[in-house]
Amino acid sequence: MSKSQARWDILRNAIVEKKLTGDGDSSFSNSVRRFGSFDLFARKQCNCVVNSDKPTTRKTKEECRWFSYTCQEVPESLDVWIQHPEPITSVKDVLSFNNTGNVCIWPAEEVMAYYCVLHMHKFRNRSVLELGGGSTCLAGMNVALNCKNSHVLLSDGNVKCVESLQQVIEMNTKNKNKVDVSASVIRWDNPSHYQKHEEKFDYILCADCLFFDEHRPNLVDATYAMLKPEGTAFVFAPRRGNTLATFVDLCMDKFSQVSESDFYCPLVSLKHERARKNNQHYDPDLHFPIMVELMK
Ligand SMILES: C[S@@+](CC[C@H](N)C(=O)[O-])C[C@H]1O[C@@H](n2cnc3c(N)ncnc32)[C@H](O)[C@@H]1O
Repeated sequence: MSKSQARWDILRNAIVEKKLTGDGDSSFSNSVRRFGSFDLFARKQCNCVVNSDKPTTRKTKEECRWFSYTCQEVPESLDVWIQHPEPITSVKDVLSFNNTGNVCIWPAEEVMAYYCVLHMHKFRNRSVLELGGGSTCLAGMNVALNCKNSHVLLSDGNVKCVESLQQVIEMNTKNKNKVDVSASVIRWDNPSHYQKHEEKFDYILCADCLFFDEHRPNLVDATYAMLKPEGTAFVFAPRRGNTLATFVDLCMDKFSQVSESDFYCPLVSLKHERARKNNQHYDPDLHFPIMVELMK
């Protein structure tokens, strides 16, 4: 089965079978999503029947899609609340602009978020943009909450994702007036979306966005345009055939330094080795994120 066919099947399952959950879902019937998570964050479902301060919106525990994500390796880090995507139920949603960010948190996003929490000192007092963050921007939201004085913009090209990001921000910033985070629709293939952010960011984060053949050059251009001179982008993605290699080649022509690493965090390497040995659904080519660092 081709990779685009596999992704289409994920969306079809989301409509026909309504099987999708936020992450770690083992019910997928194809290889792309059978491995769901490296379990780097402890997840706890919201008990909103007890906790909701808005009685009219109370839901049963089963209906509630809010989960707290805790990075136990870094006990001083704050939990981030994430709303797992609703199953995609309308044909309109499927036919709208790329919906892969409304399906789940992909392992590359989880790993990137974990990397950001481990390296939170990097992002303190810095402006940070997440591109193609889907409906959760788990990494960008972790930076916003855990890196003091950071200025964070969460983004995606899909309007529904950005609506969800607004809710994620609202949920996480209640009673926290020092957190500087906002969300916006930014499409890499539309320069009018990113020209106003030219040379604005010290750091750009991006996870699992390299498999769109037609938008790969746009992603390189948009990232370059929005980074400050001497800014750095961290891009996490599995190799997935030659998609990562093609992206890296394009970056070589543009950025002053481009490096690739498959050993950026001992715990991720350990989990990767364990999954390789013990999980028949784990395919490093599709699931193990490589870290690409780009310096302008
Ligand atoms: C596989 S999802 C990854 C989402 C999230 N980073 C994660 O890993 O969970 C790819 C994301 O890229 C976004 N995307 C695809 N093409 C885009 C474009 N041209 N401009 C902006 N976002 C785009 C999609 O809307 C989607 O949310």
